[in-house]
Amino acid sequence: MKGAIFYSSKYGSTAQYASWTAEATGLPVFDAIDGNEDPSNYDFLVLGSPIIYFRLSIRKWLKKHWTEIRQKPILFYSVSGSAAGKKLDNWISKSLPQEAISKMYFVNLMGRQIPEELTLFDGTMLQIAGFFNPDREAGRQESKGFDFMDKSSIEPIVQWVHEIEAKIEVA
Ligand SMILES: Cc1cc2nc3c(=O)[nH]c(=O)nc-3n(C[C@H](O)[C@H](O)[C@H](O)COP(=O)(O)O)c2cc1C
Repeated sequence: MKGAIFYSSKYGSTAQYASWTAEATGLPVFDAIDGNEDPSNYDFLVLGSPIIYFRLSIRKWLKKHWTEIRQKPILFYSVSGSAAGKKLDNWISKSLPQEAISKMYFVNLMGRQIPEELTLFDGTMLQIAGFFNPDREAGRQESKGFDFMDKSSIEPIVQWVHEIEAKIEVA
């Protein structure tokens, strides 16, 4: 009985959370987009993805694999600049099939955005978005960047993994 972590990450923060979780749980970790590991080989899954331009970047991978993994216990962690709340829930529900939303267990983590690391396109888009955002605090974050990375925020993921492992052992 085994689980695995699959993530997508554009600038590394979702990957960082994946490797902290791997370290804490002993689960293997795979890049969903660049790798070709098959998620159907595992009994339970931890999936992670950032929100990039109002959508989860892993959404196509998840749709492609959904039929093979839909019966498994799945924890999904999102990584974003926005904190948990209605706005984030709305972006998540627009990225994933309704069935996936109702079956998966969600954890929302806060990420990191370093302006110097962005591609020219992303940097320009975020400067423009930051300038026009009516929510001035969010706008400042978009243009100046932020770092909300927090190793202790993976605790609910680690706990979920331990609970699933205990249940699977009993079954
Ligand atoms: C191009 C770009 C677009 C983003 N769009 C959003 C967004 O729509 N909503 C949000 O809450 N955060 C947004 N963010 C913040 C990211 O979710 C955050 O930086 C995250 O940590 C990135 O994950 P990664 O390092 O794994 O790629 C965006 C960041 C970038 C670079």
